Amino acid sequence: MNASSNPIERSFEIAAERCADLTPLVYARLHSEHPETRTMFRTEGSELVKGSMLALTIDAILDFAGPRSGHFRMIECEISSHDAYGTPRDLFIAFFGVIAGTLREILDQDWSPEIDAAWRKLLDEIEQLVLQRTS
Ligand code: HEM
Repeated sequence: MNASSNPIERSFEIAAERCADLTPLVYARLHSEHPETRTMFRTEGSELVKGSMLALTIDAILDFAGPRSGHFRMIECEISSHDAYGTPRDLFIAFFGVIAGTLREILDQDWSPEIDAAWRKLLDEIEQLVLQRTS
């Protein structure tokens, strides 16, 4: 498989080589950085919801950082559903930073300045997208 030239894709590729499932790491980080999220998910079936929420968020990130074929629009749609779940906007935005932090920890020495710059730009753009959304 050819290594991706897109730094965001590349960061996910390297992480996938080292870690079969990001889900437990991402949610451990989320719950530790934002303890209020521990009780925000339903008690039954939350593993499925959490796994699916992360997988769909990663799809959206890869589309947003790459072809922009449409999956990234999920981010805007989910703002409304998460308003209804009672997820504050700043927490919604924070989830993307939690994913970045998890990758950074896994990549360690391979977290290059190029990958860092690409993630900073992406997190800024997503923050703008979410904050600009009025409903
Ligand atoms: C820390 C921030 C977030 C919290 C606390 C949160 C919370 C939740 C909760 C409680 C549900 C489940 C509702 C249920 O029980 O049916 C859910 C589902 C979902 N969330 Fe989030 N969310 C966050 C961020 C995000 C972000 C950034 C995205 C994507 C842009 C996202 C995408 C989804 C999707 C797609 C589902 C539905 C999963 C499924 O059932 O297939 N969430 N979220």
